[in-house]
Amino acid sequence: MYLPTVSFRFAGELRFMNVLGIETSCDETAASIVIDGRTILSSVISSQVAVHKRYGGVVPELASRKHMEAIVPVVDEAIRSSGIDARRIDAIAATQGPGLIGALLVGFSFAKAFAYALDIPWVGVNHLQGHVNSVFLESDPPPFPFVALLASGGHTGIYYVTAHTRMDLMGQTRDDAVGEAFDKVAKMLDLGYPGGRVIEMLAEKGDRSIIPFPRSYLDKSAFDFSFSGIKTAVNRYIQTHKDDYKKQIPDIAAGFQESVVEVLSYKAIHAAMEKQCGHIALVGGVAANKRLREKLRRDAECKEITVHIPSFDLCGDNAAMVAALGYHHLIRGETADMNLDVYSRAAN
Ligand code: KG4
Ligand code: ZN
Repeated sequence: MYLPTVSFRFAGELRFMNVLGIETSCDETAASIVIDGRTILSSVISSQVAVHKRYGGVVPELASRKHMEAIVPVVDEAIRSSGIDARRIDAIAATQGPGLIGALLVGFSFAKAFAYALDIPWVGVNHLQGHVNSVFLESDPPPFPFVALLASGGHTGIYYVTAHTRMDLMGQTRDDAVGEAFDKVAKMLDLGYPGGRVIEMLAEKGDRSIIPFPRSYLDKSAFDFSFSGIKTAVNRYIQTHKDDYKKQIPDIAAGFQESVVEVLSYKAIHAAMEKQCGHIALVGGVAANKRLREKLRRDAECKEITVHIPSFDLCGDNAAMVAALGYHHLIRGETADMNLDVYSRAAN
């Protein structure tokens, strides 16, 4: 089926475009209405953490089922709390990938059906580009071009961003994502799932200089990461201090966190310097980490680089970033047809 290109110039007058964003790539069912890719009218996030916690990670089949249960109430609530009528939604944007196929399909199919029912255009968007666009929902977005450090549970990479929908990969993790490393270390220390926030809280009570875990820079002049070594180092420390490591958990958490934060900050700043670019965006679930926010800001300041970080509720998966990115596809006339499919992996 062919859907017409969006036009938001009505009778010669420009008017605002209300985009409904839908995000179901992993374990959050989210919907949001955003005006012109900038102003959030509503943002609803239903987390499945409680469901997956007991398995120590996301169970794909359970995630799909939970999205099925949540998608209608979440979209309903996003429309209700936006204060606008569903008939004033101009277009829909849904996450197309990367992510869990079954989970993505729930939001994507819903978006297709809802767009068809409302007779409005829709578009599929890239989840990673969505995270990068989260900084445009704040009051001081970076000017183009800028360097983005995406640090999440599924991905860790550095991008050179030249437009809302155009970003070139400069480097990425060769093994675990940094959020995954936080989660795995938390699991080793029996701290539950997900681990990022709990490691951060324990680290605040510990001393980051007591246990000097290794820093994995790989090639210091390149932008790839590796987080499997630090994970192994923490495991080895636990094994060799079986009798007393429990008393040292805050110091282990602080030492581990410092090791990854130092590498992330170093690489992001060197990427910006290589591109002679004065702005860095820090995005993704791990961008909520206060030590990372503080260290990157401080290190960047020394090099006269400005760091842009979304507020805490826009770091993790949300649909406002999806609506914001969708808007930029839509104003360029990019819309999807009903045959468009989801994808699980990011193309490099
Ligand atoms: O972006 P996100 O919500 O989902 C993905 O797209 O992956 O990121 C989730 C990841 C999890 O691994 C979680 O442990 C981590 O972000 N995370 C944190 C913090 N809050 C969430 N990691 C470190 N410190 C935090 N405060
Ligand atoms: Zn994400």
